[in-house]
Amino acid sequence: MLICRTLDELRQARQSLGGRVALVPTMGALHAGHLAHLGYARRAADHVVVSIFVNPTQFGPHEDFNRYPRTLEVDTAKCETAGADLVFAPEAETVYPPGVPGVELTVPGVADGLEGAQRPGHFAGVCRVVLKLLNLVRPDAVTFGRKDYQQLAVVSAMINDLMLPIDIIEVPTVREDDGLAMSSRNRYLEGDERKHALGLSKALKQAQQMAADGEPDPVAIEAMMRDVMQAYHLEVDYAAVRHARTLGEIDSVVPTESVALVAGRLGKVRLIDNAVLSET
Ligand code: PAJ
Repeated sequence: MLICRTLDELRQARQSLGGRVALVPTMGALHAGHLAHLGYARRAADHVVVSIFVNPTQFGPHEDFNRYPRTLEVDTAKCETAGADLVFAPEAETVYPPGVPGVELTVPGVADGLEGAQRPGHFAGVCRVVLKLLNLVRPDAVTFGRKDYQQLAVVSAMINDLMLPIDIIEVPTVREDDGLAMSSRNRYLEGDERKHALGLSKALKQAQQMAADGEPDPVAIEAMMRDVMQAYHLEVDYAAVRHARTLGEIDSVVPTESVALVAGRLGKVRLIDNAVLSET
């Protein structure tokens, strides 16, 4: 497995990869959820490239950019075991060379609410780095996780609208045995916070049950999710039922076309999760 830190190294290494290439973009601190992406990527292509880059432009000024876990050596070892051919782990100055005027990418509609409202500029930063990575690696396919449901929708809109010739592979959310969605931020949960974090997946499970029982009112499901999260001591950022594709607000629940999305905080840790309502 090759490890590239510079653009020259990446260009050279990329040229040596024949056949189809799949890219798995990550910010490192790899867990089983990320490694599932490598499995999907391997089945879709001849070669797998993993990018590991904690992207500064997608973090707000008061977010956890400095605190975000950086575990490059362990990560590259995991990539090698999981069958990656190449890891691209650039420095910030390589991706954002000083003095080069930047571009801002917006995806109106899909990117506006939920995470977009809570984290201004977040999706502009995600789109900018993803487009850079796609241009640098030139993959035939790229993986994104349903764990970050809105990110998947935003990035898919960008790839489709800009007509990039790249297949999008959607990877289902990998969970711990008790239902907690795997996340690089879970390692920061202290003491009882790990138990309280279950409020997210519990709220989503009950939302699926309410939808299966025929509840038509999104507001009723949202109120229940908020109650469940609060009962688990979560500070609720949002608990929303939305249209599964547009992420717009809906008047009535259609389980196959509706998604529940939750975000909450436990101490300094912010967690998100979601579930399509038809999947029980
Ligand atoms: P990161 O949070 O490292 O996630 C990398 C990829 O893994 C994303 O596509 C994310 O949705 C997916 N992922 C995270 N947890 C998962 C889980 N439990 N199950 C399945 N997939 C999971 O998302 C980012 O990085 C960044 O925003 C990035 C796209 C790399 C741009 O900087």
